[in-house]
This record gives sequence, C-alpha cells and structure tokens, in this order.
Amino acid sequence: VTADLVWFTFDGRPMEAPRGLTIGGALLVNGVRSWRLTRSGGQPRGVFCAIGVCFDCLVDVGEDCAVRACITPVTDGDVIRTSGSVGMRE
Ligand code: FES
Repeated sequence: VTADLVWFTFDGRPMEAPRGLTIGGALLVNGVRSWRLTRSGGQPRGVFCAIGVCFDCLVDVGEDCAVRACITPVTDGDVIRTSGSVGMRE
C-alpha cells in the first residue's frame, strides 16, 4: 500500500508529507521545527499553541503572507517559504 502523500517545497527544498496534515505538521515530519525569526533578537519560531491563537507559526505560502501553519492544511504544490512576518507576541 502506498501512503497518500502531498508534495510541496519549503524554501526551495522538495518535501512530502501524509495528506491531511497542516503545513506545520508537514514541516515537522520533515524535521523543520522553525520557519520564522522574531523581529527582536532573531529567535526561531514554529508551532507553539497549535490551535491558531498565538500567531508564532506564521509562514508564507505561494502569494499569501503570514499564514498560520498550525491550522492551514498542506496541499499539493504548495510553495512554502520562511516568513518575514511578525507574530502577535513581539
Ligand atoms: S502555533 Fe499558535 S497560531 Fe499557530
């Protein structure tokens, strides 16, 4: 049986993940734990609350900026990039 996989890129790197995951989940299963740096201090950020509240997990996807990775499903062909967006707690 072949797993149902989604194909996407992160900062130009091709990746795959099981269909049905969020973008955050898809990045985590690929070993990516952070995809944004804080404005002050340049600290890495990824999933924190995982329920769409804290905005720590902002990521850019295609033409969209500041997408919450923890509540957005990953889809085939997504072009996901490290975000320059600023979270709510900064
Ligand atoms: S991890 Fe908190 S909004 Fe995504």
